[in-house]
Amino acid sequence: MESFDWKSLGFGYRKTDYNVRCYWRNGEWGELEISSSETINLHIAATALHYGQEAFEGLKAFKGKDGKVRIFRMDENAKRMQDSSDGILLAKLPVEKFQEAVRIAIKMNKQYIPPYESGASLYIRPLLIGSGPQIGVKPADEYLFMVFVMPVGPYFPQGFMPTDLVIMRGYDRAAPQGTGKYKVGGNYAASLVEGKKAKHGGFSAVLYLDSKEKKYLDECGPANFFGIKNNTYITPLSDSILPSITNKSLMVLAEEMGLKVERRKVPYEELPEFEEVGACGTAAVISPIKRIYDADLDKEFLYGEKPGIWSTKLYNKLRAIQYGDEPDKYGWTEIVE
Ligand code: PLP
Ligand code: COI
Repeated sequence: MESFDWKSLGFGYRKTDYNVRCYWRNGEWGELEISSSETINLHIAATALHYGQEAFEGLKAFKGKDGKVRIFRMDENAKRMQDSSDGILLAKLPVEKFQEAVRIAIKMNKQYIPPYESGASLYIRPLLIGSGPQIGVKPADEYLFMVFVMPVGPYFPQGFMPTDLVIMRGYDRAAPQGTGKYKVGGNYAASLVEGKKAKHGGFSAVLYLDSKEKKYLDECGPANFFGIKNNTYITPLSDSILPSITNKSLMVLAEEMGLKVERRKVPYEELPEFEEVGACGTAAVISPIKRIYDADLDKEFLYGEKPGIWSTKLYNKLRAIQYGDEPDKYGWTEIVE
């Protein structure tokens, strides 16, 4: 095994020893298979390759001070993959099979789980692809589900230090009644051009407005958006954003901390009113935002250079549950035996 400098890990692909696979053929799911290969053998006419029939997930496992490994809200990811499957007509994987595959992938690669002190974690990437051939536009008759894992650090290199976002009205990641609410590969392909522009300009991500009217905040490229003002945690309600499991958890924790929680349309005009803003997601955890630049209107919205009080509290609380430092009173974690 390659030796890792756990504390300075970024977010990127790293080879681990084993991955788990499962095929859907003749109308049913087969057994879970363990593989040590990083590649797959795929039909040249697989629907994943031609028509983007692909969905994925992202979740994490954490090693605690007690040496135990906890997976965070895996059932939610399994259910969301089923929703994505309904969205693009993939064969639906049973929740239990998803969970078993994830547990095996973690156990088989346990030496890659970063130590507690490092603040890093094991990123788990399940994916489900149309593997059967079609050349007309229709769903495949064979599917392949896979899970692989890798140790990761923060998604944005700044970690928990505030970063910058950019608004560019010339690009949409998802249509108003399209696939934005599903975790499907096509949404991410659609975000690459503006994502590259944003990075080039020194921004960590694009902040998308709703694609119909450009009046309301939607989400960031790889994460949901939230703002805090007047003791209220506010996050966009929209049909074209991914229902983030991190955001769902933060809403519960915010309420527990005494904040009001509002999930509603968030007009662009509200941006100057927020005391704190952030991006949240599995990879991003909470990434506080210090500046939102509107590239079309050449206008900027400034927030603190340092993480705000509530963002910090929420971040600490979420991490404490994930690493097992605090009791898991909501039953969000599963210990891998
Ligand atoms: N929004 C998008 C577009 C994402 O890709 C992600 C990442 O999964 C999120 C939001 C955050 O979702 P979650 O908290 O479930 O990881
Ligand atoms: C995640 O947060 O798990 C994601 O999938 C975001 C990004 C890497 C696409």
